[in-house]
Amino acid sequence: MPKIHVFDHPLIQHKLTYIRDIETGTKEFRELVDEVATLMAYEITRELPLKEVEVQTPVCKAKSSVLAGKKLGIVPILRAGIGMVDGILKLIPAAKVGHIGLYRDPETLQPIEYYVKLPSDVSERDFILVDPMLATGGSAIAAVESLKSRGAKNIKFMCLIAAPEGVKALTDAHPDVDIYIAAMDEKLDEKGYIVPGLGDAGDRLFGTK
Ligand code: PRP
Ligand code: URA
Repeated sequence: MPKIHVFDHPLIQHKLTYIRDIETGTKEFRELVDEVATLMAYEITRELPLKEVEVQTPVCKAKSSVLAGKKLGIVPILRAGIGMVDGILKLIPAAKVGHIGLYRDPETLQPIEYYVKLPSDVSERDFILVDPMLATGGSAIAAVESLKSRGAKNIKFMCLIAAPEGVKALTDAHPDVDIYIAAMDEKLDEKGYIVPGLGDAGDRLFGTK
């Protein structure tokens, strides 16, 4: 069964409040999304494997731990996922970054794929797929399918805000994908927007409307 992790750290919840606020402008919105992505990356990397090494301190030789060198890939779902990438790279700068371009057809809410570029060694990497919003789940499901069809085996999905409908759809479609979220909201409205949500994540990040 997939695990659903809600990151209820006070700093994440505090910043998320200002991300939701309609009065928050593009510059501040972008900075806050970046900061929350860093905080979520700290939590999501908790279980990275370590290996023991020997280090010479000024005092003596000691056994200590470093990351075991697991290959990681970060994949934002375009556009809005881009806003989370730099924040994650601050903590895991050696990760490779792929891109999956999807947009929701405004009438059908079905995801349309328009771009895919991934690291060449897909099957050897563990992936963190990122998008601020998990609404109907259609985009996340399609992005996971796109990654799997190219050989990805281990995928985590990370988003800021999820609707229960999207979490159910994603876990039904891909029970092997664990989901990491900052907040689980109430529901979707008739246009497929998350309530209360934050509005259109891409438009708020990039100042489009
Ligand atoms: C938004 C968001 C997700 C998707 C979520 O993208 O960033 O990718 O909607 O909705 P879903 O769970 O119902 O699929 P959008 O389609 O608005 O494209 P954009 O990022 O280019 O603005
Ligand atoms: N996409 C968004 O950007 N916001 C929502 O509330 C739902 C989908």
